[in-house]
Amino acid sequence: MKTLFLSTRGAHRARSIASAARILRRGGLVAFPTETVYGLGGHAFNARAVRKIFRVKGRPQDNPLIVHIASVQQIWQLVDSLPVMFWALAEKFMPGPLTIVVRKSRRVPAFVTAGLETIAVRIPDHPVARALLKATAAPIVAPSANISGRPSPTTASHVREDLDGRIDAILDGGSSRVGLESTVVDITGRVPIILRPGGVTGEQIQKALGVRVRLARPVKHRPKSPGMKYKHYAPRAEVVVFEGKRSSVWRTMVHAAARLQRRGVRVGAMAEDQAGAKFSEGVLFFSLGETGARGAARLLFRGFRSLDAQNVDMILCQGFSDEEIGAAVMNRLRKAATRRVRV
Ligand code: TXA
Ligand code: MG
Repeated sequence: MKTLFLSTRGAHRARSIASAARILRRGGLVAFPTETVYGLGGHAFNARAVRKIFRVKGRPQDNPLIVHIASVQQIWQLVDSLPVMFWALAEKFMPGPLTIVVRKSRRVPAFVTAGLETIAVRIPDHPVARALLKATAAPIVAPSANISGRPSPTTASHVREDLDGRIDAILDGGSSRVGLESTVVDITGRVPIILRPGGVTGEQIQKALGVRVRLARPVKHRPKSPGMKYKHYAPRAEVVVFEGKRSSVWRTMVHAAARLQRRGVRVGAMAEDQAGAKFSEGVLFFSLGETGARGAARLLFRGFRSLDAQNVDMILCQGFSDEEIGAAVMNRLRKAATRRVRV
């Protein structure tokens, strides 16, 4: 299959979005940009399209998909009723990097939710995604547009690396602003549970709802969110994460990198800008931005992919404190890492 590469720059935009919508309506697969990461879209009510998404990604059958909609009104195609908490969250965070899990309507076919009675819904906050959803005029399922287990794509060329020749089209909308997948919050019970930390923080959700939220612990058996049990976000290289005070973390990383290099290991390092100059020559440095977890969120997956492309054996990565967006960064980083070093 030849994958169309659709630009959304200037004059191309309207035509590209119209072609992508046409492909989706006919049951084809289109990767498209969102503010979190690129999604691999398919018509939510088309069994063939949904099955194909699982096949193309190599995704486990029991891991349900997020349904993307253009507006809050569209959710009535998916549910019969909504808990009051939904409205407070929708008002604050939709569109935005928040996915809400609610009870699904019986009209929603089981293949959409991998047999679950609940459905995950999100309105992305990206002009191209919104225009596409509007033009398609149907709910679109979209997991991250990567091969399962690989880091999620934050640019159209990342999608191409993984899926060229396997899907109908890729809509290019530049780099994703957030860089990590949406927060997934389950509001089917009395206490909201964060199943996956992301762009909207636990503190923000708590504030919007005025109730305490729980953070789901990753579990091995029968997790609430099937996605929690799989290895995720990992580059090919082995990842070691260093946690602790910034200055000590950098010092320890620099020494570890030098030691590994002497043993003939090809080393990559990921840390904030300022650390770059400290590493010895030959260490492949990828900057996670000026300071703080916001930049790290945006650049983490890009860094994994970039260092992988340079064939490093090992990636040493700076850890961040688990506050705000840092919680999402550390969630991804700890899942990708084979080893954690506390400094
Ligand atoms: O930011 C995002 O959410 C991106 C963009 C493309 O929107 N999408 C994304 O999809 O990250 P995916 O498939 O990679 O992750 C979906 C997560 C999985 O962990 C899945 O298990 C969980 O959402 N999920 C989906 N439906 C669920 C449900 N009914 N109950 C609990 N968890 C659910
Ligand atoms: Mg994913």
